[in-house]
Amino acid sequence: MNSFGKTVLITVLTLVLMTSVFVYAHEENSDGHLSGAHSHKKYQKLKNPVKPDAKALEEGKSLYAAHCAACHGGSGNGNGRTMKAADFTSGKLRHGSTDGEIYNLISHGSKAAGMPAWKGTLTSLDIWKLVHVIKLFNKG
Ligand code: HEC
Repeated sequence: MNSFGKTVLITVLTLVLMTSVFVYAHEENSDGHLSGAHSHKKYQKLKNPVKPDAKALEEGKSLYAAHCAACHGGSGNGNGRTMKAADFTSGKLRHGSTDGEIYNLISHGSKAAGMPAWKGTLTSLDIWKLVHVIKLFNKG
């Protein structure tokens, strides 16, 4: 390979490397989550498999009261007993407002900020029920 070829090759490799570092850094930081408002393209389009019927909402609300209200407050306004957490009634969710994004956030948490990951503690269907509850709060 001549030196021009080598230069091109090195440039291409450097670009590929920089892009992957950028993509990785953009996906996650050390706590597995980004700070600041953002959305999660990968999860945005996930469909909620649970229909928001009376039974599912009832179950969602009791899960919320048991696991979430201590931090997020009984009415979802972020005024919990143990800490001030995200306010769901503000009309804007920092981590994205689609079903899939809310599901992802509840599953994986935002640990550095104090939001636990619920995957493992709650079943995936329970988390989807909670997504409906969060959206009800978010509507005001
Ligand atoms: C120990 C306190 C605590 C508990 C318990 C908790 N959360 Fe959170 N939650 C937080 C904090 C703090 C944040 C803000 C995270 C951030 O700013 O990145 C948060 C953020 C969120 C968000 C993202 C809000 C946004 O603006 O995008 C959702 C959704 C959420 N919590 C749902 C839940 C659900 C559902 C439960 C119960 C299964 C729960 N949380 C239990 C502390 C808690």
